[in-house]
Amino acid sequence: MGVALVEPGSIGGVEVRNRITRAATSETMAAQDGTVTPQLIAFYERIARNQVGLLITGHLYCHPRGQYAPLQTGVHDDAKVRGLSELAVACKRHGARIFGQIAHAGSQSRVPEVEPLAPSPVPNALTGRMVGEATEEEIAETIDAFAKGARRVAEAGFDGVHIHAANGYLISEFASPLANKRGDAWGGSAQARDRFPLAIAKAVRKAVPDDFPVTMKIGFADAPDGGLTVAESVARAGQVVDLGLSGIEVSIGVMQAPTDSANAYVAVDRKRAAQDWLIHRLFSEPRPEAYFRPWARELKADVDTTVLLAGGMRTTETMNDVVASGDADFVAMARPFIREPDIAAQIVAGRRGRVDCTSCNLCLRHEGHHPLRCWRIPRRRLLQHAVYRLTGGLRRGLLRTQR
Ligand SMILES: Cc1cc2nc3c(=O)[nH]c(=O)nc-3n(C[C@H](O)[C@H](O)[C@H](O)COP(=O)(O)O)c2cc1C
Ligand code: SF4
Repeated sequence: MGVALVEPGSIGGVEVRNRITRAATSETMAAQDGTVTPQLIAFYERIARNQVGLLITGHLYCHPRGQYAPLQTGVHDDAKVRGLSELAVACKRHGARIFGQIAHAGSQSRVPEVEPLAPSPVPNALTGRMVGEATEEEIAETIDAFAKGARRVAEAGFDGVHIHAANGYLISEFASPLANKRGDAWGGSAQARDRFPLAIAKAVRKAVPDDFPVTMKIGFADAPDGGLTVAESVARAGQVVDLGLSGIEVSIGVMQAPTDSANAYVAVDRKRAAQDWLIHRLFSEPRPEAYFRPWARELKADVDTTVLLAGGMRTTETMNDVVASGDADFVAMARPFIREPDIAAQIVAGRRGRVDCTSCNLCLRHEGHHPLRCWRIPRRRLLQHAVYRLTGGLRRGLLRTQR
């Protein structure tokens, strides 16, 4: 393996010690009101002191109506700045960079008590939840909430702010022809569907200092047929960059299943399946790595910006090749860091080959139920998962996904 992956890089003028990024991964570790807890800080600090280049926080809801799940971290009022600041300090003292991801869940909110917001009254593709059409006032209030959330992230001492415009959340819904059926200036044509993402980008850019990096995670295509296309999204990404954003992370848009973003069993061959007790995977082919890489390549060909690529980075050879080939500047991983919080340090120290995570997605199924952790190690966790599931735990407390 060459050295591209472990070479320093930069994003929006911020130097990063290597190209290994921990992708945004929601933690289920905040207090009930969204405040950062000592548990959350300790969780991040462990990754930070283990040589990761850049950390992106799990999605921080910028408005109470944009909360996705219980115990999600919030950035929706000024009182949250103090805890976020402690988090930033704890990570930065180890030489890691940290960006705060600001988000609004839209109709994908899985908290029954939340009254969500959506561009149009269309059943959510993931949960089936139906909510009314956002009014002009609600749209203006939401744009303002993103701007204020970004201002708080900057005040808290983060290195940058990352706007979540992917995975079927509110911005992704406004961009999608499937979720946005409006006939006014906020929907209809591709140009009208640009308006909300661009308004957020502009408002966020204005809310933070000029030299503070603003990046965006964009859903380049929708999972259901007839949805958003990559060509449209590449053009939108170009406009976002023209507004002064410093980088784009490549992901999927509206989802039908959580696995559309977090593909299952990536690069898991028979031997690895047997080792990890994935008996049902013994007779099928491994799923491919770096599954959004072709979209990153299209983006790079058209737009001059820093690109982060998430989605199924599982071998150091692929990670290095993604960077060395120029398809992306940074590789971002979510699930591998859950199973091995020190994976970046291991790679920097010379570890090669496959990471341990087998993309079984048990961690994802427990989002909103339990603090983020791997459920395959130690082995007794699998038993805990089975008991929780069989006693109906996964059906309680938050709305279920349809698949
Ligand atoms: C438990 C879990 C929580 C996640 N939370 C977020 C999130 O808060 N924000 C986000 O943009 N993506 C989130 N994702 C998606 C990841 O950032 C990433 O795009 C996806 O898991 C694919 O990368 P991976 O193959 O390295 O896991 C989450 C994924 C998992 C598994
Ligand atoms: S539970 Fe563990 S092995 Fe399964 S996807 Fe999550 S981190 Fe990977």
